[in-house]
Amino acid sequence: MRSNLIQEASDDQKTLPAHVAIIMDGNGRWAKKKLMNRVRGHEQGSETVRAIVTASREIGIKILTLYAFSTENWARPESEVKALMALLKKFIVAERDDLQKNKIRLNMIGQRDKLPPDVRQELDKTLELTGGNEEMILNLALSYGSREELTRAVRKIAAKLASKQLSPGEITEDLISAHLYTSGMPDPDLIIRTSGEYRLSNFLLWQAAYSELYITDTLWPDFTKEEFVEILKNYQTRDRRFGKVSCSTSNGG
Ligand code: FPP
Repeated sequence: MRSNLIQEASDDQKTLPAHVAIIMDGNGRWAKKKLMNRVRGHEQGSETVRAIVTASREIGIKILTLYAFSTENWARPESEVKALMALLKKFIVAERDDLQKNKIRLNMIGQRDKLPPDVRQELDKTLELTGGNEEMILNLALSYGSREELTRAVRKIAAKLASKQLSPGEITEDLISAHLYTSGMPDPDLIIRTSGEYRLSNFLLWQAAYSELYITDTLWPDFTKEEFVEILKNYQTRDRRFGKVSCSTSNGG
């Protein structure tokens, strides 16, 4: 079911982004403003995750990538890391049936082996159960960092060179993309960051080459479906040129 707002926004024939990626930032500041513990911010942030996954499915977004835990986040206080892992596990278990019912495939990008065994176990169950779903992919970036992803890809390609499975001339952009965690997925059309910070923070650096960026001051726990829809409508007004000239200003050549 497509929302009316998006239906209206689609009247100009511009398509929705197929792949939306979100840097969910500001949970800590949200909690601080309310004189609460940071973990309360993450809990409220989980509720926003739930709402935005549901909205994405209704609207017809095909891939939603959420930056849930970065390679750098392991350096946070142990109690916060533990709380975030517990929240992730809770989400993966609690949403299992709804993901399945809504034909959403869960996928993860990042260092699976770094996750605690209990999280891995529940993650694997949900990945397996939802693996055949084709309406939407919910891509969770967990222990994800773009530099780690690229380093891993270079290592894999180097091993293939060393064993003569590959020659240097066969290293193309497509081959590099195929060695990333996001292999087989289109690059994000739109990257949203909440809480007003103007940086990518080691998120999808290769894949973001031509992504449209949208920064909102809203803190992630306060982010709503309505604002999400407004951002999608804003995206639909943009002229994506991919380094070329605009269709409307070129001679059609
Ligand atoms: C950034 O806020 C957010 C994170 C590091 C974690 C994101 C996690 C969630 C939204 C909840 C759990 C996720 C799922 C998928 C259920 P911050 O702590 O850096 O905020 P701050 O910059 O205001 O301190």
